[in-house]
Amino acid sequence: GHGRGDRVSTDGFRPVAPNTDDAVTVPPGYTSAVVAAWGDAVLPGAPRFDVHRQTPESAAQQFGYNNDYVGVLPLGRSSALLVCNHEYTNEEIMFPAGAYSADEQRRIALASHGMSVLRIEKGRRGGWSASRDRRTYNRRITGETPFAVDGPAAGSARLRTSADPSGRTILGTLNNCAGGTTPWGTVLSGEENVNQYFGTAGEIPADRAEAFERYGISAEGERGWHLTWDRFDVAKEPNEPNRFGWIVEIDPYDRDAAPVKHTMLGRFKHEGANVQLAHDGRAVVYMGDDERGDYLYRFVSAERMRRGNSRWARRHNQQLLTRGTLSVARLSGDGTADGEWDGTGEWVPLTSDRESFVPGWSVVDVLVDTRLAADTVAPTRMDRPEDVEPNPVNGRVYAALTNNSNRGTAYPTDEANPLASSKVRPELGAPLEDATGNRNGYVLELEPGRDRTSSRFTWRLFLVCGDPEAPETYFGGFPKDQVSPISCPDNVAFDSVGNLWVSTDGNALGSHDGIFRVPVAGRSRGKVEQFLTVPIGAEACGPLITDGDQHVWLAVQHPGEGGTFAAPTSLWPHTDRFPRPAVVVTWKR
Ligand code: FEO
Ligand code: CA
Ligand code: CA
Ligand code: CA
Repeated sequence: GHGRGDRVSTDGFRPVAPNTDDAVTVPPGYTSAVVAAWGDAVLPGAPRFDVHRQTPESAAQQFGYNNDYVGVLPLGRSSALLVCNHEYTNEEIMFPAGAYSADEQRRIALASHGMSVLRIEKGRRGGWSASRDRRTYNRRITGETPFAVDGPAAGSARLRTSADPSGRTILGTLNNCAGGTTPWGTVLSGEENVNQYFGTAGEIPADRAEAFERYGISAEGERGWHLTWDRFDVAKEPNEPNRFGWIVEIDPYDRDAAPVKHTMLGRFKHEGANVQLAHDGRAVVYMGDDERGDYLYRFVSAERMRRGNSRWARRHNQQLLTRGTLSVARLSGDGTADGEWDGTGEWVPLTSDRESFVPGWSVVDVLVDTRLAADTVAPTRMDRPEDVEPNPVNGRVYAALTNNSNRGTAYPTDEANPLASSKVRPELGAPLEDATGNRNGYVLELEPGRDRTSSRFTWRLFLVCGDPEAPETYFGGFPKDQVSPISCPDNVAFDSVGNLWVSTDGNALGSHDGIFRVPVAGRSRGKVEQFLTVPIGAEACGPLITDGDQHVWLAVQHPGEGGTFAAPTSLWPHTDRFPRPAVVVTWKR
């Protein structure tokens, strides 16, 4: 039952030990269940999933591949909307060898990207499952769904293509990694490593060389999509890459509303976006650019959020991200003599919707080539900024900095990025070994000013991740013999009392990735405890804590990555002869 004690926010649980099992392993007394898996019906009338008979049309009606962000938006007492990103595809495990042509694979893959909205119902015995009502809200957004574009770059010459001379309608969203649910009841989602979809058999246009280089776009590409679609050929459509790499917003309560790409939030490898309201109701949006040596960003809206759920308020709030100011973070250390990696910081403005603050750059150019514009103002080069999320209880902002093997070599150390070497474990049970760079990542704690729109903040490293036996690790000052090893933080979330929850991607300590709970206040501040581990080859995404802290959500992404369809390394969730990415909910029995 769901008695008062069944709260992951306050309950003690026996931490899950590091392991390499092909399972989602939760603490004793807890259980887990799959809510939605790759291929499940999302739209009414979706064909039954058959791995040997996939088509682009069926994929566009089914739950997509590689679920990443998980949002759960309320819909009455025992119903909700599950919103997920489908970041990318693993063709080598999705498709039996020889069963599909390269062209068919690409078309199915494009339809397996994007997002899903799925109505779910709370079960009587705990857990959640897909609703039988697929008509009212269920939705698939794919690599071909029309998006509206707003903000200053909408309609600009830099967004126009031969298929869209208006520069205002973009087909599809790609590589949607993390995201955030807004205080006004919509979902934001970050288009991340979109460079991989572009290539050309021709030449990169000379006037694009610098920007393409900075964004990782090459003639070779990684997926050959330019061989199937002209729009992904950068010699034929050099502006198509400018139409990806944005924050998108969808209204899950209105399946007919066009999703939107917000140009005001800049274009880079967006991990996600999370909103904190300033005391006057303006939206403060935090974002990370997930690349070694890239930056933390912040947007402050010009207008205030309107309370309430009227159509008028919802329409107003969905315009909040069109006008305001985009800034990039510069962090200064105060020296290490105080025994802490900490200091002060500044949000350096890049552009507002009306005025660019980068000399010689237009507003549109700052928003389209945000990385290049930011490079001119000397921000702090971070170790792959992933989720950046405000804690609703203490108002501080937590940024996952996942790792950077080149820190100390290509990227000099500084107080916010202090490790030029760190300890890793080649496999579970093996002794720790020295490695160059920051291999296990950090969690950075930012303290905005009392006025959350202030350009000044203070910061400290809250977690220096790794094995607690490694001398460089730090867990908010908590005794190191009582914490779980943690490596490569990626996504963060908070429960109702403000505990930080962290999911990881790329464990460098020989164990599988997982989800961890960490109090940020009181005597247990820094007490990292592992709540679950994920199957072979998988990354843990989400996490999300819902309904009075009774449920912890998880997206199991790319189980079996590294294997093939013929030789799978994982069979999770053990329903088929191949692995299936899936969204899981866990709860106390
Ligand atoms: Fe898709 Fe930054 O992880
Ligand atoms: Ca210091
Ligand atoms: Ca991520
Ligand atoms: Ca990641």
